[in-house]
Formats: sequence, structure tokens, C-alpha cells
Amino acid sequence: MTELAVHAAGVGKVFPTKTGEVVALTDVELEVSAGEFVSLIGPSGCGKSTLLRLIADLDQATSGTLEIFGKPAKRARIDQDYGIAFQQAGLLPWRTVGANIGLPLELHGTGKADRAARIAELAELVGLSDFVDRYPDQLSGGMQQRVAIARALAARPKLLLMDEPFGALDEMTRERLQSELTRIAAETSAAVVFVTHSIPEAVFLSDRVVVMSPRPGRITDVIETGLGDVRDEALRESTGFFDRVTAVREALHGTPVTRASES
Ligand SMILES: Nc1ncnc2c1ncn2[C@@H]1O[C@H](COP(=O)(O)OP(=O)(O)OP(=O)(O)O)[C@@H](O)[C@H]1O
Ligand SMILES: [Mg+2]
Repeated sequence: MTELAVHAAGVGKVFPTKTGEVVALTDVELEVSAGEFVSLIGPSGCGKSTLLRLIADLDQATSGTLEIFGKPAKRARIDQDYGIAFQQAGLLPWRTVGANIGLPLELHGTGKADRAARIAELAELVGLSDFVDRYPDQLSGGMQQRVAIARALAARPKLLLMDEPFGALDEMTRERLQSELTRIAAETSAAVVFVTHSIPEAVFLSDRVVVMSPRPGRITDVIETGLGDVRDEALRESTGFFDRVTAVREALHGTPVTRASES
């Protein structure tokens, strides 16, 4: 039996506010297999970040059950079963770039020499080798985001939770990190739950794209990309890729567009 990285069953989230209840999520069913790459896409306010926060145990579901590697979300958080990189980089301003990247390793009790080696490797990966001794406020927003990504990868977690981690990056860096992320996820056989607003990004990265709709936030479609293991530049220009982009776009719009070949 393969253990699921994430299993959400009937998950709902209601926020009580002064002006009444906000139903952020309703009846979410989601299974992410070990090693699987799943993107969440949907209009602003449909509950993508909320769902990721529930998985990361940063907030509690109002209904339903949520398991991470067969454990309650809280247990998984304490066991540090996942790495997170969210919309805001969330770096510790009093720590250098290197010390921020190495934080999960410190928490895991990794020795100083191993930590230094891993920090150097990760800094190189995200193109910040010359900045390990700087402080976060000396970096651009995109650079801070890359530090957060390196930190999420530091302890080689079996699950990565990423909320628009590439949103602040220029297109070139973004595409490079997309390729790197698929490579790292494959190499470490990590499962990834990835929130994005970009359809091509979701398709390029994912085994499955989960499409959500707002009010109340729910899953309306799941699209298998079936693009195989090789995620290279050629894939971005292949017909298979464009077909999947169209499929996700149609699912988001909620209306099938008749293709030229079918009419
Ligand atoms: N702490 C909170 N209190 C009250 N309402 C909240 C809270 N957090 C989120 N919401 C509401 O829940 C809904 C979902 O928000 P969420 O941040 O998950 O959306 P999202 O899909 O991540 O949007 P975006 O794409 O803009 O990041 C929104 O209507 C939002 O206003
Ligand atoms: Mg969000």
C-alpha cells in the first residue's frame, strides 16, 4: 500500500467575521500520492492558500479530516514532515541568508559541517552563492523568495507546500526554478502541493492540476497532465503541453471551447 502524502476528506473551512461567516472551503476531497506533483489553481479568493494552510497545520479545518503521511496535520508539523515556501518569503530578518536556509537543518540537529555544505549547495541552486552572508533586507523581493525556496528544500522533505513561490520572480528565473523544482522533486521523490495563478506553470510542473472555484471554495475539476517525467524546454513548446494548457483554461472558465479540429 502506498501511503498518501496528503489525504483531505470532506474538508471545510468557515471563517467567522464581524459581517457574518465566510465559507472559504467546502467539501474538499484531495489525495496526493507520495512523490506526486499537484498544483492548485483558481480565481483569487477561492481558498487555495487556506487549503495549504490547513495542510501545514497553520489553521484548523472546520469540518472533515486531514492526514499527512497518515498522521494528523499537527503531528506532521511537529515531525517536520514537510517544507513550506509561501507567498511572503517569511525570512528571519536577524539571520543571514545562509542561516535562514540552514534553519530547518538546525531544527533537525544536523551538524555544523554538514549544514554548511548543504547551505552552499542550496545557495548555488537558487543562484545566491554570493549572498549567503547578507541579511534579507539587503535583497530584492525575488531574491528573498529564492532564499525561502532553498530553506524549504534544506531538509529534503517528502512533502513540499508552496504558495505562489515564484510570483515575485522574473520570467527567466521563474522558468529556471520551475525546471529545478521538477528535477529536485523527482530526485528526492518528494510530493509537492503547489499554488499558482499561472496555467502554463501549473501544467509544466504537475502530474495533476486541481481546479478550484470560489464561493464557496471547492474543487471543480482535476486534470491529469500525462506529460511524463521529462520536463525540459522542448516540452514548453510541444502540442501535448498546449493541449493541457487549453484543458486547464477551459476548466477554469467552466466552458468547453470548441477546437478548430473538432468543428
Ligand atoms: N483569517 C481569515 N478571516 C476571514 N476570512 C478569511 C481569512 N483568511 C481567508 N479568508 C477568506 O477566505 C477566502 C479564501 O481566501 P484564500 O486566501 O484562501 O484565497 P486564495 O485562493 O489563496 O486567493 P489568492 O489567489 O488571492 O491568494 C477569501 O474569501 C478570504 O477573504
Ligand atoms: Mg492565496
